[in-house]
Amino acid sequence: MKVTVVGAGAVGASCAEYIAIKDFASEVVVLDIKEGYAEGKAMDLMQTASLNGFDTKITGSTNDYAKTADSHIAVITSGIPRKPGMTREELIGINAGIVKTVSRNLIEHSPNVIIIVVSNPMDTMTYLVHKTTGLPKNRIIGMGGALDSARFKYRLAEAMEAPISDIDGMVIGGHSDTGMVPLTSHATRNSIRVSEFLSEDRLQQVADDTKVGGATLTKLLGTSAWYAPGAAVSSMVQAIACDQRKMFPCSTMLEGEYGLNDICIGVPVILGKNGIERIVEIPLSDAEKNKMKESAEGVTKTNGLLDF
Ligand code: 2OP
Repeated sequence: MKVTVVGAGAVGASCAEYIAIKDFASEVVVLDIKEGYAEGKAMDLMQTASLNGFDTKITGSTNDYAKTADSHIAVITSGIPRKPGMTREELIGINAGIVKTVSRNLIEHSPNVIIIVVSNPMDTMTYLVHKTTGLPKNRIIGMGGALDSARFKYRLAEAMEAPISDIDGMVIGGHSDTGMVPLTSHATRNSIRVSEFLSEDRLQQVADDTKVGGATLTKLLGTSAWYAPGAAVSSMVQAIACDQRKMFPCSTMLEGEYGLNDICIGVPVILGKNGIERIVEIPLSDAEKNKMKESAEGVTKTNGLLDF
């Protein structure tokens, strides 16, 4: 199982590290345009192999896509991260051109690849990869909801003073500070609805904190987060590589599901060896349906800034 990670920055390197430690891939190729940077990250990561106990072979490449040939899965993290006070959407001017070039290079050397998009604004970048590559829709997946759901569970556990392992919850909608839809009506603590433990106001605060989870960290760190994004996308890579058929909220091209068309936005999907095995339509409250509609309007507006 060969995986390519494009972008050896903090998110890409974290993703490569988590994939290696989970040891389900034979090879991870990390690629970056900065001379020697990916090679250095790969070598440093390989020097943890005896300490972290993995046999995955990690190699680095300075913009030589021939080394990514025949990858089963490719993760696109390249592009610039946001600075404090920026929205993800403000990155489109620079990141769209990068993602277009990267996706073309990837499919030239790996025509059967499954692409996972992390670069922001992620839903629009996922849509761009569709328009650029023409790959089947099951093989283009946007990573946002897996990360946002992890932040949602963190905030729920914090509010209930509960162990994270007791918590289940999902965030759908756009991966944006205003467009996320934390499904508070579905969230549970060990199968019990969280509304049994938290007031409506406290649940609203959890949802609000979740939506700005990325911005909160960017303010603290001076740049975008990387550990949780890397962990989220590595979990999706594992689900595909190991045909786990796990359900994640992922950005995927909708063709009528949830009443939406010609848009990539976060909805529950089953991930397996074919990438998106199927889209899962779950019951939403009227309020959640309205939030999804508003979220889709925001993503569509950002898509309108693309020039193909
Ligand atoms: C985040 O929310 C980078 O969009 C990613 O941290």
